[in-house]
Amino acid sequence: MSSSNLLIVLVIFISLFGMSNAQLNSTFYANTCPNISRIVRGVIQEALQSDPRIGASLIRLHFHDCFVDGCDGSLLLDNSSSIRTEKDAGPNLASVRGFDVVDNIKTAAENACRGVVSCADILAIASEASVSLAGGPSWNVLLGRRDSRTANFAGASRFLPSASEGLTNITAKFAALNLSVTDLVALSGAHTFGRAQCFTFRDRLYNFNGTGNPDRTLNSSYRAILRQICPQNGNGSIVTNLDLSTPDRFDSNYFSNLRRKEGLLQSDQELFSTNGAPTVAIVNNFRRHQSRFFASFVQSMINMGNISPLTGSRGEIRSDCKRVNGAGNWVGWSSS
Ligand code: HEM
Ligand SMILES: *[C@@H]1O[C@H](CO)[C@@H](O)[C@H](O)[C@H]1NC(C)=O
Ligand SMILES: *[C@@H]1O[C@H](CO)[C@@H](O)[C@H](O)[C@H]1NC(C)=O
Ligand SMILES: *[C@@H]1O[C@H](CO)[C@@H](O)[C@H](O)[C@H]1NC(C)=O
Ligand SMILES: *[C@@H]1O[C@H](CO)[C@@H](O)[C@H](O)[C@H]1NC(C)=O
Ligand SMILES: *[C@@H]1O[C@H](CO)[C@@H](O)[C@H](O)[C@H]1NC(C)=O
Ligand SMILES: *[C@@H]1O[C@H](CO)[C@@H](O)[C@H](O)[C@H]1NC(C)=O
Ligand SMILES: *[C@@H]1O[C@H](CO)[C@@H](O)[C@H](O)[C@H]1NC(C)=O
Ligand SMILES: *[C@@H]1O[C@H](CO)[C@@H](O)[C@H](O)[C@H]1NC(C)=O
Repeated sequence: MSSSNLLIVLVIFISLFGMSNAQLNSTFYANTCPNISRIVRGVIQEALQSDPRIGASLIRLHFHDCFVDGCDGSLLLDNSSSIRTEKDAGPNLASVRGFDVVDNIKTAAENACRGVVSCADILAIASEASVSLAGGPSWNVLLGRRDSRTANFAGASRFLPSASEGLTNITAKFAALNLSVTDLVALSGAHTFGRAQCFTFRDRLYNFNGTGNPDRTLNSSYRAILRQICPQNGNGSIVTNLDLSTPDRFDSNYFSNLRRKEGLLQSDQELFSTNGAPTVAIVNNFRRHQSRFFASFVQSMINMGNISPLTGSRGEIRSDCKRVNGAGNWVGWSSS
């Protein structure tokens, strides 16, 4: 190889290497899709008309994407010959929702700027739009993630927290992703909107942790209400509000609820009711100062959104969020 060819190879190698280490930034689509935030927000606003819960469902998708091999859109992939979908893993099965709206956003994004905006970034932008449309903070979303060509079914069960595994275990799962106790409390504040199904908290009403008694850290008047919604042997799929006071607003009432023992999930109430835990003071701080909750929440969303993104030339920009590109299952030319 001539020295000039070697130089070219080196330059290409170094620039690819440099790109794959690139940081996310808020102007990534400034030239290639300048209106993307407005486009995403518009689709969500439309969806909210018929589904006031959809913003909550969308931010949860971003969370469940980021915690499994980073924010790479892996959660969005359906089963195929090369993919076992994360949607079937325990924490996601019959629980995560909003994929049809993600598809509508992707269609709008492709119509405005074809092949440019990743599905992983769509989840990040949709999270900010959902929070701000619900009365929460706005922020500059960091962008430039690309989409995976793989999914991690087993990882979805291993890395996502369960409401009943206890504060110690949940803290460890956050720490494994470099997320602090402050991140844990702030991000749990996303339970200020959205719904949960009876099966996710029912043991607290009747037989907590095998004791044969209800959870003593659950307010007894609230428990009576919840027992009507979720009878002991009733349908576990019935949903109720995560925040009983302002169900669809993004505010600090989630933290005020905890002081009255009105956190819905075990994982919520433990942030306040675990004696000696470092989370208690953080809950009190956010409860007293909504602005501190909002500022921390924004920083923690950025921290979560920075988990192991694919950048530069790694991964791809999927044209359909449900499938990797060129998977051979495209049916657009079907004549039927
Ligand atoms: C700290 C550990 C967490 C646990 C144990 C947990 C657990 C849960 C559970 C069990 C549900 C109800 C699911 C269902 O009934 O189908 C839920 C809903 C929800 N979670 Fe979490 N979660 C956690 C953290 C987070 C984080 C970090 C976010 C986002 C930043 C988040 C956002 C949401 C939202 C918005 C909903 C409502 C979704 C909807 O209405 O569709 N959660 N969570
Ligand atoms: C944002 O990131 C992209 C990709 O790494 C880069 O090309 C662009 O220059 C960055 N923009 C700023 C303002 O740093
Ligand atoms: C962005 O949206 C604005 C307002 O809807 C519109 O005037 C403008 O032409 C759009 N720009 C691009 C590049 O699509
Ligand atoms: C995905 O494939 C697995 C087997 O690989 C199967 O058990 C599961 O039911 C499929 N899920 C869906 C939604 O089709
Ligand atoms: C917490 O995690 C440990 C090991 O990581 C596990 O053995 C234990 O069962 C978990 N606790 C709960 C309550 O799930
Ligand atoms: C967490 O931080 C450590 C040390 O800086 C780093 O090696 C690791 O890759 C980080 N993990 C994630 C998921 O970002
Ligand atoms: C649940 O029960 C186990 C074993 O009896 C105990 O170690 C654990 O602390 C209990 N968890 C809670 C939240 O009470
Ligand atoms: C349980 O409730 C869900 C949601 O309301 C409903 O779709 C489902 O059909 C119900 N299942 C049964 C067995 O009644
Ligand atoms: C239970 O909830 C009610 C109504 O929100 C509240 O007035 C009461 O103080 C709560 N009880 C406890 C023990 O926190």
